[in-house]
Amino acid sequence: MLYNHAMTDTERHMTQPDRRLSVAPMMDWTDRHCRHFHHLVAPDALLFTEMVTADAVIHGDRDRLLGQPPEDVEAAVPVALQLGGSDPARLAEAVRIANEYGYVEINLNVGCPSDRVQSGRFGACLMAEPALVAECMAAMAAATDRPVTVKCRIGIDDMDEEEGLDRFIDAIEGAGVSTVYLHARKAWLQGLSPKENRDIPPLNYDRAARLATMRPAMQVILNGGLDDIDATLGLVPGFAGVMLGRAAYRTPMILAALASPIFGRAQPTRLDIASAMADYADRRTAEGVPLHAITRHMLGLYHGQRGARLWRRHLGEEARDRSDGGALIREVAEACEAMASRMAA
Ligand SMILES: Cc1cc2nc3c(=O)[nH]c(=O)nc-3n(C[C@H](O)[C@H](O)[C@H](O)COP(=O)(O)O)c2cc1C
Repeated sequence: MLYNHAMTDTERHMTQPDRRLSVAPMMDWTDRHCRHFHHLVAPDALLFTEMVTADAVIHGDRDRLLGQPPEDVEAAVPVALQLGGSDPARLAEAVRIANEYGYVEINLNVGCPSDRVQSGRFGACLMAEPALVAECMAAMAAATDRPVTVKCRIGIDDMDEEEGLDRFIDAIEGAGVSTVYLHARKAWLQGLSPKENRDIPPLNYDRAARLATMRPAMQVILNGGLDDIDATLGLVPGFAGVMLGRAAYRTPMILAALASPIFGRAQPTRLDIASAMADYADRRTAEGVPLHAITRHMLGLYHGQRGARLWRRHLGEEARDRSDGGALIREVAEACEAMASRMAA
């Protein structure tokens, strides 16, 4: 466990999670079940929650929003909480509440372009307000002994990708932030949907790499469009870490393939992962969690393998009708493995 009561405040602030490989925050996707799954695939990866707004943490059902599976708390699975907001006092209050839930890091969302988020004056539009972000980060840091970090874009709209980003980084560095997750494309706040904003503004890894080189005191984690094992490994030396979003969700074994050279750990097998998820599903469904809420995150496990279609179809279509814990996961995984060995024979 990273958190240690015997440490001084300064030592705790200095205790940084390993950020060489992380899974991006994704609303509606990276919930607690998804994180449990990703932890089985890549036990050393840093996992992010979905964004939770500071107001939701303050006024909402805290255990539902912030709680983690008991076995993940027990195993000290490294999870970063991502908050959304732009009011320093409310963010600090949310951080104080979150301190009880075992997160290894608190992150502020300065990258999300959705309208709903803009009207609340947070997310990517805050890139135009570096002084306010600095104030938020200072308030958050004062409310916790965990590191506080920022996730942002390389710019918004017509902001200059060189000077504008430098100015933003200066401001957060001045507030004591030493880690930034950089989605290496701009957000265009007018006219594009959030989904289009993840694909259409061009990626600029060179700008991200220049930032990493010019700011040795800032850990720059590269994010955006990383979906190829060799290309991602080629980028690893230039950054403090790499963060994967959609590829980690859709093709989860890419995490295992990256974790193996990055952390020097053997890759788990699909069957091991599926079996552990079936045990997890036994426990959660006994508490009333629908099986589908767990299996929906696992549909990509056999991607690219014989049996991939069988896996997706049975898990996708039958999970809602089953009431026997994780049995479906075991059955379909065994069928996929049998199919693969028949083909190999
Ligand atoms: C379904 C979905 C939900 C997302 N939700 C968030 C979010 O809550 N907070 C955030 O900072 N980014 C969010 N993102 C953006 C991702 O964290 C990431 O920056 C982006 O997808 C680019 O990385 P990728 O190309 O590896 O997917 C979301 C992306 C997706 C696909």
